Amino acid sequence: MRSKLLQMLNDHQGEFVSGEAISNYLGCSRTAVWKHIEELRKAGYKLEAAPRKGYRIIHQPNLLTESEIKAGLATNYLGKHVHYEKSVKSTQEIAHRISRDGAIEGTIVVADEQVAGKGRLGRPWFSPIGTGIWMSLILRPKIPPQQAPQLTLLTAVAVIRGIKAATDLQCDIKWPNDILLNGRKLVGILTEMQADPDQIHSVIIGIGINVNETDFPEEIKEIATSLKIEKEEEINRATVIKSILEQFEELYELFLNEGFIPIKKLWESNAITIGRNITARTTTNSIHGFAQGITEDGVLLLKDEKGEIHKIYSADIEF
Ligand code: BTN
Repeated sequence: MRSKLLQMLNDHQGEFVSGEAISNYLGCSRTAVWKHIEELRKAGYKLEAAPRKGYRIIHQPNLLTESEIKAGLATNYLGKHVHYEKSVKSTQEIAHRISRDGAIEGTIVVADEQVAGKGRLGRPWFSPIGTGIWMSLILRPKIPPQQAPQLTLLTAVAVIRGIKAATDLQCDIKWPNDILLNGRKLVGILTEMQADPDQIHSVIIGIGINVNETDFPEEIKEIATSLKIEKEEEINRATVIKSILEQFEELYELFLNEGFIPIKKLWESNAITIGRNITARTTTNSIHGFAQGITEDGVLLLKDEKGEIHKIYSADIEF
């Protein structure tokens, strides 16, 4: 109900919507409309009410609750179930739990804060309250487990497209799953899986986006950025989530119907890692060479000075 009301008020930005129109649209009494309006006010919305004209939104709080995410979300299944919590250890942890309990495909877990956000390679992920998007998506693709990493690459393309559509900012991909804006890290993606050797139960895709953060801790100050820093304005988090989910669903359908090739092409066209000399630091060594491209499994192909091709499965990339 609240998301339908929000959607209606948002569709008429700046204009008044009459109480009668709202009650007809929601199929409830005028008193019920008034109660919903009061609930929105309590949640932080500033709504102007004028006699005989109705209501209009004058300020939206930057919330991530189910109603905000569902209002106007144009997907068929992604984000149709939203598990929101104010503060969690990690949205990945919750997604794993509810996935084991049978959460349906497309369910998303979002939180305003993570106190133990997880990054790749066991690193922590800075997830302060109220400024970012900390989200995990539950997917149940019928693909062999070894193809699951392709979904990380698909996610990167979906996030880039979603951010572009919502903010007009153009990001770049750094293999395998970093998203950079003006050379600094904006988004991290962490893909985890629940699977038997031959069957996926679920893929949990964690997406962390620095949205309105302007004050990063010392250790990442020089390498991190946020949408607000780059755009020089406060960004609505729910709008960015919706945009990403819409792009994601489109690409995911393409992937399920046509395989990885079209996704690989889109990924390569946004990747700054390909077609240049780079250093890949793996856990055991460092390889310097020319990044030729990625394989169908998303593995990076690096040609060293002797002409030998190295397959890089996991590494940090330096330019
Ligand atoms: C990286 O190291 O680049 C990946 C970072 C992934 C962070 C996201 S935030 C939402 C989800 N929950 C987590 O604990 N981690 C992922």
